[in-house]
Amino acid sequence: MSKNRLEDITALAKRRGFVYQGSEVYGGLAGTWDYGPLGVQLKRNIQNLWWSTFVEQRDDMYGVDAAILMNPKVWQASGHTGAGFADPMVEDLENKKRYRADHLLEDAGVDPLGMTLADMQQTIIDKDIKSPDGNELGEVRQFNMMFQTHAGPIQDDNSKVYLRPETAQGMFVNFKNVVDSLQPDFPFGLAQIGKAFRNEISPREFVFRTREFEQMEIEYFVREDNWEEVFDQWREQFYEWFDLVGIDKSKISELDVVGDDLAHYSKKTIDFEYDFSFGRKELYGLAYRTDHDLRNHQEHSGKSMEYITKDTQEKIIPHCIEPTFGVERTVLAILDSAYTEDTENKRVYLKLAESIAPVRYAVSPLLKNKPELVDKAREVYKMLQAKYGRVVWDDNGNIGKRYRRQDEIGTPWCVVIDFDTLEKDGKVSIRNRDTLEQTRLKPEEI
Ligand code: GAP
Repeated sequence: MSKNRLEDITALAKRRGFVYQGSEVYGGLAGTWDYGPLGVQLKRNIQNLWWSTFVEQRDDMYGVDAAILMNPKVWQASGHTGAGFADPMVEDLENKKRYRADHLLEDAGVDPLGMTLADMQQTIIDKDIKSPDGNELGEVRQFNMMFQTHAGPIQDDNSKVYLRPETAQGMFVNFKNVVDSLQPDFPFGLAQIGKAFRNEISPREFVFRTREFEQMEIEYFVREDNWEEVFDQWREQFYEWFDLVGIDKSKISELDVVGDDLAHYSKKTIDFEYDFSFGRKELYGLAYRTDHDLRNHQEHSGKSMEYITKDTQEKIIPHCIEPTFGVERTVLAILDSAYTEDTENKRVYLKLAESIAPVRYAVSPLLKNKPELVDKAREVYKMLQAKYGRVVWDDNGNIGKRYRRQDEIGTPWCVVIDFDTLEKDGKVSIRNRDTLEQTRLKPEEI
């Protein structure tokens, strides 16, 4: 894989209106990215496909959309205010710049997996690892990643609130509400798509690690005695999702998370890693969260989190399996999987799945100065737009340039209205992005 692949993808994303640097005109803001017209459509298509797959097409899933700002007691109960939700940080003793200690170890060729803070400290000393500016490093410390702000006009400890670092807790605190209002059969799950915020010490690699991002998460409630079976079922679901959304499965591997890397709430976690051009990195996670969250919320809130089984009237605090999907990392893995350099035909194209491509059909008249072609093309354009959406009108430049432009943004089909359309059988030319084959169809057959 080209080592410049990330730069190529980042450049394409900017040039063609997928992703821009956040607040770019002011020099940017680290860890933030803005989505342009094509990027927002791609992201929305991914989210819609996810929602349709995991909520709408299942009888055992219920959606929620909880507030980003939550009562701070939520984060005490979940354990996020403690050391469990912190990254190892180390400071350059000269210029005071701060870094993720595990990232510096990785850069020095050391695998930090499973290391404690003390292990990292010792390795930095033993291997004489310096900061990227070549200076001595200080002590490795925990850094809590939650963003803080204040609710209301008085800024004191009582008004302190956090921007949620995961969407998961919005589902746990609504568990009882959903049970009471919908009486779901067991087992069942909750799903949510929404923003999460983490004060990452060193955001990097384009949209891979950002301070503001979106998650698509599921909390699936099970009996303790069959968590392994359900865990395996969800593991299979990930592979179906990779196919559906166009993520190259040959670049996926599973990592059994162990030791200090295991989240404070989890008894077993698998990371689905993706071979990005900058390394093998976590794309998604699947965790067995035990009854950690519901039990803690019951204790801290004093409200029952029990579910009464419909058949035996037994009271249980369910255990939880959590499949979690980051939206930005999905975008990046999809772009990486789709980015294709076709040297034979001298083009770069995105092999995006039709279900998520920002544009599905581009419609053109062969010549834009022939009103009869333009009128017919407009008619076909309107028809496809009403039927499918995600249709663009493209009459700029010659037909070859239009094809290249559409290839680069991953448009699967280009429809051209030419003189044969008018003079012969009314059929239009439809070109396949991947095979370059052109067939002729009646517009209503498309
Ligand atoms: N509720 C569980 C949870 O939040 P996580 O592994 O910390 O688990 C879940 O995050 C997913 O969110 C990750 O697998 C990744 O896709 C995404 N994610 C986490 N931190 C991110 C960041 N700083 N930037 C972009 N995506 C991130």
